[in-house]
This record gives sequence, structure tokens and C-alpha cells, in this order.
Amino acid sequence: MVTAAGFSQFGHKVVCVEKDERKLEALKAGKLSFFERDLEELIKSNLQCSRLSFSIDLEEAVEGQQAIFVTVGTPPAESGRADLGALHEVTETLSHSIQNGQIIVLKSTVPVGTAQNVREILARNGYRDRSVAVINNPEFLREGTAVYDFFHPQRIVIGGESTEAIEFVKHIYRLGMTHPVPIVVTNNATAEMIKYASNVFLATKIGFTNELAGLCDLVGVNVLEVAHAMGLDPRIGPDFLNPGPGWGGSCLPKDISEFIGMGESRGMPLLISKGVQEANFRQFESIVMRVKRLVGDLKGKQIGVLGLSFKSGTSDMRGSPAIPIIGQMIKDGARVKGYDPAASSEAKMALPEIEIVSEAFKVAENSDCILILTEWPEFQLLDWHGMAERMLNRNLVDSRNLLSPEVAEQHGYRYLSMGQI
Ligand code: UDX
Repeated sequence: MVTAAGFSQFGHKVVCVEKDERKLEALKAGKLSFFERDLEELIKSNLQCSRLSFSIDLEEAVEGQQAIFVTVGTPPAESGRADLGALHEVTETLSHSIQNGQIIVLKSTVPVGTAQNVREILARNGYRDRSVAVINNPEFLREGTAVYDFFHPQRIVIGGESTEAIEFVKHIYRLGMTHPVPIVVTNNATAEMIKYASNVFLATKIGFTNELAGLCDLVGVNVLEVAHAMGLDPRIGPDFLNPGPGWGGSCLPKDISEFIGMGESRGMPLLISKGVQEANFRQFESIVMRVKRLVGDLKGKQIGVLGLSFKSGTSDMRGSPAIPIIGQMIKDGARVKGYDPAASSEAKMALPEIEIVSEAFKVAENSDCILILTEWPEFQLLDWHGMAERMLNRNLVDSRNLLSPEVAEQHGYRYLSMGQI
């Protein structure tokens, strides 16, 4: 949706295909079923000037289009590998309607070899390699800042075999870019790997920082100072050095799973990636352990959770650390109330066993401990004194280091963070 709205903002005419009728009707009215900063406004303004439109009919919508971007989901299957069902379905349908000279652009995150596989499906259905180009153009948009990221990319990766098609995809982007952006041109398989390698590396960087924070806690060193100094080294860089409750979301967990699967299916165990994945599961457990360190046995305890989405700026609950962490606390006998500024309805579906409340103060009422899981900036500005007064016991676990030990102490909390001293 961000890509479609962004391209229409560049001045291109974009038709989006949506199969779900309810979503389709909402989109036609400029409404999204999820929260993403600035996206609704972008859709509405481009709907108004008719550069952006929506259709339910794939075959009709692709007729006469120069490029067809495939953006379907590739969620993890039971096995942990990417489920390419939706991609195959679209490819089969396209293979009956696609015309010579059209370009298929795979925006979805797909395992190495998928573009080749798409070519084979097309060929099986009568289209030879050269008449329809298949390009990979992975996205690197972060939820919550996806619109900003679209207009300010750090790089654009285009993988393919046809020079003409690659030039055309470059042209689509160049038309709207207001500043020079490195465009990396590769073959299909390389572009597919770049996306996985990037996300697995980011997960590794966060995983390392989480481990570092745990060790800093034990040896009495402030992780924020360590991370700051490390980040000044350009070989390391300052981003993704914030310890947290474990990385989550709709991308990092599934991409590391598929990456490990790609290695295993070829007889190569990816030891570092497996370690990063395993350490992340442990990180969820370590958050529950912090709560236990403050309140003891969780049986019958009331825990208030601030933040349920996998990170701030989004209502997305997919892969949210809140799910395993709260799940474990419930299993251990705790009663949990949760609050999230954006994800209430998503949280009701993902966490039916807890009470979702409509304001932050309500999680504090009669609670034995507050647990901050998402780094919503408004949590920093909460009346922490007022929160403390509503609690049964003033315990606070801050898995995002939103407060400092000094501030927490001022309000009388027993406080555990991630490597702050
Ligand atoms: C990610 C990639 O960043 C993006 O390029 C890709 O296109 C999609 O996947 P996203 O899933 O939106 O984007 O989340 P991201 O901002 O990468 O954060 C992933 C997880 O790591 C979140 O759970 C976040 O809270 C956590 N995180 C991130 C940390 O715990 N510490 C950090 O320093 C950064």
C-alpha cells in the first residue's frame, strides 16, 4: 500500500488489486484497516486526483499496465519456511492475462530462486522468458515510518536479467526521487538474498545488544553509554543498538526462519542465525524473569502491561514480543491488563486472555507490577507519580529503557531496566 501510494505521489497512475471486498470498499473511501503514520492522507490525496484507484479484478487491472508489482504476503508456513501460496496464485492468474513486454516486479520478500520459479510458471503457461521480464525489487520499509522511508530510501535494489526492464524500474523511482539514491543492480537471486541478509543482520545486531544489556546488568555497567560509544565507530553505526524485549514484527522473525531453512535445506546449518533466533526466545523469557525478580511467584499477581504492538508507531501485533511474554505470565498464574495507544483491537484478537483497557492509568490500578513492552513516546510523559499511587506495589520493569533509574526512584518504584545502572 505504501509503495502504491508513493508511486502515485510520484505522478504515476497506479491501480491496486485487493481481493478482500471489505478492505477494498474501505480503501476506495481512503480508509485503512491498520494504522500507519501519514499513509491515509497520502492515499486520500492521490485518490482525489485519480492517480490511485482500486480494483478487485486482477486480470482487468493489469491490462495495459507497463509494470505489475506483486506485493502479496509471504508469511511463515508451519515449517518456518516462507509460504509462497499467494505468490503462486497471483503468478498463475497473471500467466493467463499477461501480455508481451509487461514487467512483473516482485516486491514481496521471497526466497532465493523464486523469480526463476515465477519464470518457469509463466513458461509452463506459454510465455517464454524474454517476452515477460521478472524483476526483484525488495522493500526496506520500516512499519511506523514506512511513508518516510519510501520517500527517503537509503538504496534501491533492482535484480533481473533484462536491461530494458531494469531501466524501466529505475525510471519509475527516479521520477519521484528528490535526492540522489544509490541504485544497486544485480541478478534476481542476489536481490532476493540482499533482503534476507539485511533483515537477519539487523536481528543479529539487536540480539547482540540485548545480550550485551544482560551482561551490563550483571557487571554494573550502563549499556546506553557502551552502545553510544560503540555506535560512534562507523564500522558499527548507531542504529539498532537499543536493547529491548526481543525483536519481533512481521518481517524479522519470518525472515530469519526462512534464512535458516535455506541453509538447512542445502545441508548447511547457519549457526550464527540459529543462535540469534534462540537468543531472542530467551530474551522473552528474560523479561518474565525480571518481573519475577520484583514480584516473586506470579500466581494471583496483577501485572499491567504498557504497549502491546511489536514496536511504537504501528498497530501491528504480528510477531509482537507481548504475545509470548504475556502468554508466559498468564501460564504462571498472573492476571494481566494491557494498554496500547494504537493496537487495542488487534490486541483483543491476539491476546484474548487479557483485559485490554482504554487508558494507561487503568493498567496501574491495583497492580503488583507495570511492565513497559513498547517504546511509545507518550509513556515517557506519563504521570508516573499518579501511576504509582494507583498501584498495589510499586514495581516497574522497563524493557525499553524509557525511564531512568533516577526518575523511577523519585516516584518510589523498585525498577528493573535493560542494562541501565
Ligand atoms: C524491518 C526492517 O527494518 C525493514 O527494513 C524491512 O523492510 C521490514 O522489516 P520492521 O519490521 O518495521 O522493519 O521493524 P524494525 O524497525 O526493523 O524493528 C524490528 C524489531 O526490532 C522490533 O520488534 C523493534 O522493536 C526491535 N528493535 C529495533 C529493537 O529491539 N532495538 C532496536 O534498536 C531496533
